[in-house]
Amino acid sequence: MTGSRYTHGHGEAVLDNHATRTAEDSVGFVLPHLHRDSRVLDVGCGPGSITVDLAARVAGLGGAASQVTGVENTEAPLDAARQLAARRGVEAGFQTGDAYALPFADSSFDIVLAHQVLQHLADPVAALREFARVCAPGGVVAVRDADYAGMHFHPETEGMLRWRDNYRARARGNGGEPDAGRHLVRWALDAGFLPGQISAGTSTWFYSAGRADGTGHAGRPGWLADSWIKRTRDAAACEAGETGIAEADVAAICRGWQQWAADLSAVFVMPHGELLVRM
Ligand SMILES: C[S@@+](CC[C@H](N)C(=O)[O-])C[C@H]1O[C@@H](n2cnc3c(N)ncnc32)[C@H](O)[C@@H]1O
Repeated sequence: MTGSRYTHGHGEAVLDNHATRTAEDSVGFVLPHLHRDSRVLDVGCGPGSITVDLAARVAGLGGAASQVTGVENTEAPLDAARQLAARRGVEAGFQTGDAYALPFADSSFDIVLAHQVLQHLADPVAALREFARVCAPGGVVAVRDADYAGMHFHPETEGMLRWRDNYRARARGNGGEPDAGRHLVRWALDAGFLPGQISAGTSTWFYSAGRADGTGHAGRPGWLADSWIKRTRDAAACEAGETGIAEADVAAICRGWQQWAADLSAVFVMPHGELLVRM
């Protein structure tokens, strides 16, 4: 079963949020494997900020940015990705392609990456097998996925608890696995990879007014709250009656995020599972 529906959608608030990501804050575990000759595929690249960052890094190592390609199963976020690449003067390639049937020959890449993608797929094991097909011997397949059940925050506002429950139910209803981070190793074993090929880890995104560094992923509570409030309203407007957010929940969820962000002691921990498979 490969049918699923992408829960976040490609509305402006989602694309703006995802476009803040960098290679360092999202796929830092992949960077030691990046070399000047690396051919990189970023599956489910969204608005492409991670892809463009990786391409700039390959160019910085003496390779060509065009060795890095982002694919998406819809054109929806690719305009934003191409515009970003043009603005940064980085010649990363972007095209459509499905994670289950990538439009590339066997062994075409040295790094096959998917950041926060498997959690949206009904058959992540089939996707991992497809990533392995296009990855050359000696290369790596690398995935990172969030774990919504593991996300925790202070203060624990009623509206944010409702947001987390609501998101997890909607993602499951769409055929995905919102707690994907904890399932990555199992999926890799189910895909037929050997334990000796697999390295697993975790990393978090952390939001707090008291965050030590001001760099990288937008780490401020106000930014996260504003983003999720916009996304909640968009989802309610776009998906009502299907897998959307019930009108009754929207106000409570938005109020919960506002109350949380207004508290100077607010913290939010967003855990991710990471998986690296050596081919
Ligand atoms: C949460 S976004 C992550 C985007 C990007 N990797 C990032 O971290 O900024 C997940 C992306 O996966 C894409 N996606 C979902 N199903 C896909 C599939 N079957 N093949 C390729 N991309 C897919 C969605 O369109 C969406 O842009």
